[in-house]
Amino acid sequence: MKVSFKELGLVNTREMFAKAVKGGYAIPAFNFNNMEQLQAIVQAAVETKSPVILQVSKGARNYANQTLLRYMAQGAVEYAKELGWKKPQIVLHLDHGDSYELCKSCVDFGFSSVMIDASSLPYEENVKLTRKVVNYAHKYDVTVEAELGVLAGVEDEVSSAVSHYTKPEEVIDFVKKTKCDSLAISIGTSHGAYKFTPEQCTRDPKTGKLVPPPLAFDVLKAIEKKLPGFPIVLHGSSSVPQEYVDMCNQFGGNLPNAIGIPEEQLRKAAKSAVCKINIDSDSRLAMTGAIRRHLAENPGHFDPRQYLKPAREEMKKMYEHKIINVLGSNGKAR
Ligand code: G3H
Ligand code: 13P
Ligand code: ZN
Repeated sequence: MKVSFKELGLVNTREMFAKAVKGGYAIPAFNFNNMEQLQAIVQAAVETKSPVILQVSKGARNYANQTLLRYMAQGAVEYAKELGWKKPQIVLHLDHGDSYELCKSCVDFGFSSVMIDASSLPYEENVKLTRKVVNYAHKYDVTVEAELGVLAGVEDEVSSAVSHYTKPEEVIDFVKKTKCDSLAISIGTSHGAYKFTPEQCTRDPKTGKLVPPPLAFDVLKAIEKKLPGFPIVLHGSSSVPQEYVDMCNQFGGNLPNAIGIPEEQLRKAAKSAVCKINIDSDSRLAMTGAIRRHLAENPGHFDPRQYLKPAREEMKKMYEHKIINVLGSNGKAR
């Protein structure tokens, strides 16, 4: 049976993005796979008064079950109300949808936004598949994110060893033909906790720390010029906080040379037409670091609530920090 996202109290991204582009901030898009992540995201959004996008990947659907995740998102809306948010602005978004069938099933299942990631296909096929998804989704007022350009690293099952920046000369034609609502672009970000090799970085002479190469802001500028006011999305935007990498490594982990996108670069991007910033790895690092630390310091603990509670608190702290200090979406919820 089909269900509309509107019946679930969710919203699509249309109004949210228009305001974010105008206001020079970005909406947080946080991935979730479990209850603790979801609780931390909702608590952080309520406390900072920020609109928020809950992202479900294909991997999350396989891990947690799509029905359960959908009801959890529905529960998140009610939970937000219970915490005092009268009209929650929460989007349930399919992250990296890789087929028409998957996107259609999410639209039918109550998602308010879907991504069709056909960025690995030749240009004309990307256009065709994206257009097909848009045609279906728009019938139900579900918004669609598309992608042009390929991010380095692993995009779910789509892998690419090198990053192919989005070509600014293609964006007008792509948006016109597909009628997508937002566009994910490639300007040097990538997925995961190892975004650059040490060889790609320079070393800060004072601290000895690795400094990654800057994002291609010239490409972003050229895209903005071609599509004034059009919502742009950045994937692979975890900053891989050293604090969490150290926490993992200090308590038995092994994450050598993990490196992300410096937060000041994301802050700069958020002030532009970039109105959605995707963060997943930082949540994984915060959770794992906190669990490792707790178990190392409390070897006798075996009740999951004992170590998941500090993990949830650490994630919430991280989400709030991103919202306030990086994306600038605090106070932007109605
Ligand atoms: O873009 C990828 C997201 O971080 C989701 O990752 O497919 O492992 O759930 P996942
Ligand atoms: P990170 O791996 O940098 O958190 O990126 C997440 C993402 O892009 C989800 O689509
Ligand atoms: Zn992504």
